Amino acid sequence: MSSSAIEKKIEALREKIRHHEYRYYVLDDPEISDADFDTLMNELKRLEAEHPALVTPDSPTQRVGGKPREGFVKAKHSSPMLSLDNAYSEEELRDWERRVHELSGKTDLEYMCELKLDGMSLALVYSDGRLERGITRGDGNVGEDVTLNVRTVRSIPLSISKDKLKKAGMSADFEVRGEMLMPVAAFRKLNEERKIQGLAAFANPRNFAAGTVRQLEPSITAQRRMDYFAYMLLKDGQPFFDRQSKSMDALEAAGFKVNPNRKLAKNLHEVWRFIQSWEAKRESLPYEIDGIVVKVDRTTWQRELGSVGKVPRWAIAYKYAARGGVTQIEDILVQVGRTGKLTPVAALKPVPIGGTTVSRATLHNMDEIERLGVKIGDWVEVERGGDVIPKVVKVVDDKEHPRGHKQFEMPEHCPVCGGNVVRTPGEVDHRCVNANCPAKLQGTILHFASRHVMEIDGLGEALVNQLTERGLVKNVADLYKLTKDGLLQLERMGEKSADNVLAEIEASKKLPLERVIYGLGIRFVGERTAQFLAEHFGSLDAIMKASAEELEEVNEVGPRIAESIVEFFANEHNRKLVGDLRKAGLTFTGQKKEKGTKLTGKTFVLTGTLERHTRDEAKKMIEDAGGRVSGSVSKKTDYVVAGSDAGSKLDKARELGVSVIGEEELEELAG
Ligand code: IVH
Repeated sequence: MSSSAIEKKIEALREKIRHHEYRYYVLDDPEISDADFDTLMNELKRLEAEHPALVTPDSPTQRVGGKPREGFVKAKHSSPMLSLDNAYSEEELRDWERRVHELSGKTDLEYMCELKLDGMSLALVYSDGRLERGITRGDGNVGEDVTLNVRTVRSIPLSISKDKLKKAGMSADFEVRGEMLMPVAAFRKLNEERKIQGLAAFANPRNFAAGTVRQLEPSITAQRRMDYFAYMLLKDGQPFFDRQSKSMDALEAAGFKVNPNRKLAKNLHEVWRFIQSWEAKRESLPYEIDGIVVKVDRTTWQRELGSVGKVPRWAIAYKYAARGGVTQIEDILVQVGRTGKLTPVAALKPVPIGGTTVSRATLHNMDEIERLGVKIGDWVEVERGGDVIPKVVKVVDDKEHPRGHKQFEMPEHCPVCGGNVVRTPGEVDHRCVNANCPAKLQGTILHFASRHVMEIDGLGEALVNQLTERGLVKNVADLYKLTKDGLLQLERMGEKSADNVLAEIEASKKLPLERVIYGLGIRFVGERTAQFLAEHFGSLDAIMKASAEELEEVNEVGPRIAESIVEFFANEHNRKLVGDLRKAGLTFTGQKKEKGTKLTGKTFVLTGTLERHTRDEAKKMIEDAGGRVSGSVSKKTDYVVAGSDAGSKLDKARELGVSVIGEEELEELAG
């Protein structure tokens, strides 16, 4: 094929992939299966690898790239990124409209109503139809250049064809502003993972979005599946069209994700109806909103109205009442989790919040109690946010709400088993150190039975408590020894429920290896790590036999996780448990992810700053091709992959006569 024919072929394939990305990530309505999509993507990767000169930055293969950075570079906005004034009642909304009428001298204005997405605002600069820069809001005038992270968000187009832009009525140079956010489900899942890995949980999806956009390592942003909704279209810092509603339609036509839940209202009455209709419905959205943004639709009037300080006069945010309430702390109790962690929980005077009655709220740990300065008897603000468990936000201190006096202290002995409680220096949590603490057992079993693990529906808290208290279940393997007669002795257990639970337990045996690994409850081994372990080793036996060094060859497994796995399987109780699970017939083998053989037996050392791949990506590439990555250079090293600023390892390689290669050569070797 001639080179121009290949170029055409590659570009056609890219357009096809862009179309399917759009169907999947923007419209949530894919036309092809994930497997077919992967096939197209692999085909493109193959062609680009054969013709590296034809790789363009806007190719769908180039979403994740670049090296981890030291920090972000500042970038100036084309015009200030404003924030919004708030209204909390219909009356405040009317006051706003009155001011708008007075200042504009017009009373027949139309208003664009949009959901107020609770994420982080972000500007996208396109030039010649290509995404050039992504900039955070910063102080409104100057933000941070987070382009590499923005590129990993699949609902953001890297380039838009001339044809599409023309149909949308847009020019090739423009700026989009919108909200980057994290869907609630993804937020909950990731927070769970973080807790398992011993990392601090994020308070809400907004903080998570902000933390993710400012990740120095783009591959982490890529994994976190962020979403982006566009709500402003500018050229040279000014509105592109004469109406906000037109901008929204054009953005949609150009392939951006624009929130469909919007309305052009003819008057404030219609605005109010829109606001009310979303008050209840917002609970069912997959992402969080905290209100409705109302904008004067005509941009000429927007300009006339102008802004005061950082807020425009032409728009306002109607904020829904927070899903919170004020109540009194009657006591502070302590809960013990499956890792032995002691969590202080506020027992509250019951208070209705967003449709349910709340009588408990978490206080997380001792540091949080100190930060809040909370005492027993205090009145506090409680909030139900993206997390399922309500939390105490702050202490209320005024005439009607006098302060409490009783200081809470962490018990020295576990409230469940009386075992010693220890707080390791440097850690935030207090833990019960008794390995046989029944609270740990109950937590372990609940984790094992949960939806992301062995999916044993019907094995809830009440049943687990009975099973453990009666000694019917002393570890997770005992679940597989339960009989119908045994179950029927329990309270509130009929024939049908017993049959159901047993059927669920039976069905769990068919679940794949990674679930069993995750279910063992090894410290720091979450869902993802379990998956990588299963793919790498292909069987539980192989994992049990692996040394810490061998475990570290697995994607994302570092010394801390490897050590924890080794420790777990070195424990005699745990080995017996695994033996019992094997006897019960759980899945102990899986599909080892086929590795290439191109680099079998070859040892690599990575050094310096890589340009085209992150460290993790390069490591994965080598391992996927059957090679090994080591931390230090020796005579046994086959290749040293050197990026810029390579130091002592490069010197050592030269000294020992080890081949030194660049990233491109590595790509070639790995095929
Ligand atoms: S318009 C001057 N539209 O709310 C116009 N903002 O409190 C300001 N936000 O910083 C932006 N959804 O992060 C606009 N549909 C929407 C929005 C929205 C959420 C955020 C945005 C802004 C903040 C202001």
